[in-house]
Amino acid sequence: MSDFKKAPIASNVVADSAMLDRRHFLLGAAGAATLGIASGLGMRTARAADRTEISFASASFFGKEGIGDLVKAYNESQDRIMVKFIELPPPSSSTEVYQGLIQQLARRNGTPDVFSQDVIWIAGFAAAGWALPLDQYFPKEKRSDYFPGTVAACTYNEKLTALPWFVDSGMFYYRKDLVEKHGGKVPETWDDMATMAAAAQKAGDAKFGYLWQGKQAEVLICDAVEVITSNGGSILAADAKSSVIGEKAAVEAIQFLYDTINKTKISPQNVLSWDEEPSRQPFTSGEAMFMRNWSYVYPIAQDPKASHVVDKVAVAPLPHFAGGKSAACLGGYQLGVNANSKKREAAIEFLSWMSSPETQTRLALNFGLAPSRPAIFENAKLKAEQPFMASLQNVFIGATPRPITPQYAKVTLALQSSISKALVSGNVQAELKAAADQINKIVA
Ligand code: GLC
Repeated sequence: MSDFKKAPIASNVVADSAMLDRRHFLLGAAGAATLGIASGLGMRTARAADRTEISFASASFFGKEGIGDLVKAYNESQDRIMVKFIELPPPSSSTEVYQGLIQQLARRNGTPDVFSQDVIWIAGFAAAGWALPLDQYFPKEKRSDYFPGTVAACTYNEKLTALPWFVDSGMFYYRKDLVEKHGGKVPETWDDMATMAAAAQKAGDAKFGYLWQGKQAEVLICDAVEVITSNGGSILAADAKSSVIGEKAAVEAIQFLYDTINKTKISPQNVLSWDEEPSRQPFTSGEAMFMRNWSYVYPIAQDPKASHVVDKVAVAPLPHFAGGKSAACLGGYQLGVNANSKKREAAIEFLSWMSSPETQTRLALNFGLAPSRPAIFENAKLKAEQPFMASLQNVFIGATPRPITPQYAKVTLALQSSISKALVSGNVQAELKAAADQINKIVA
């Protein structure tokens, strides 16, 4: 799966066979035949000459179908607009997706007309003047259909510069059968989790106690935000003008992650090179007791074609430090219109369809991506297929954002480098102090 990273940036062709293989795997033979290899190419060629053509660039989310299938459904649903899909790498290759997008947006030539953007880029894209303010198209009455926190995340300098799409948050996957055998109670503190995981490993019930994502990548910052916040710490000070990542709460939290590999040994050394998918695989193949990951994993864990742990997995809020509170990192992609698009009306129409209750329900059911519209959490099919979504609704809406700043792209690179060094060397205090010094210069 690390091959995903090699997917070409800003290409409308999936040149990566791993991607196609994976889709076949998840879809099963029948689904793959219906989908056809050609649809994996993400671009529709047939179009009526009188249609307005717009382009849509997005990271390649996957599940029971891909984003190209959504675009196809939109193109078939009406005959005025034809959307051309520009498929970017998967969201775990966050830096590459970001580069792919900014290379295009910075040209200011109107391509892509519409894009999906990780919640962490909204401030930067707005500050650069690349994202069209959407206030006139989505007035306040329409916005009340969405979680207020997501609307806030889509707002920069009091302007709505993104339209809510889906919300993501880190969560705690556990094996019900193994928890039952080793005490019966889902652990709420990191210490209890580590003790239980070690016991299961010792008893030969799990090869890995706890899986998380330690690769030098965006997801490492998500994992870090969660442990740090669950110890009462933070990356930025309350005024967002300096970093407090060198302080005790954060140092203890990153030390805990280091210890999972080196002291309690509940996590393999490999987590240091794993992002979402490499950490997900041993879990759904039945080798691990606990895992931190996003909601997309649940439908995979419940798919007999992809999982050895069907009906054995449940999801809870992540553990916390004694005296702290559980924290989930806020993730998710939101929709934007290129400020230089010459086809605004068509762009807005497509955007509205992508964010509609119908499309959000489809994203939830087929991709495991949580709606930004609270009403959809009540959907009976969703409740039956992915019960954790409704029960963890508060985790999604209470999730902790990563630093909100137009400088986020620089902040994350500094964090990724320092936290990664801390986890490899064990010099946690020194590396986090170095991160704080760097961040202070960036956000000052
Ligand atoms: C998920 C989240 C996104 C995050 C990424 C990191 O896709 O939704 O916000 O940046 O993971 O890998």
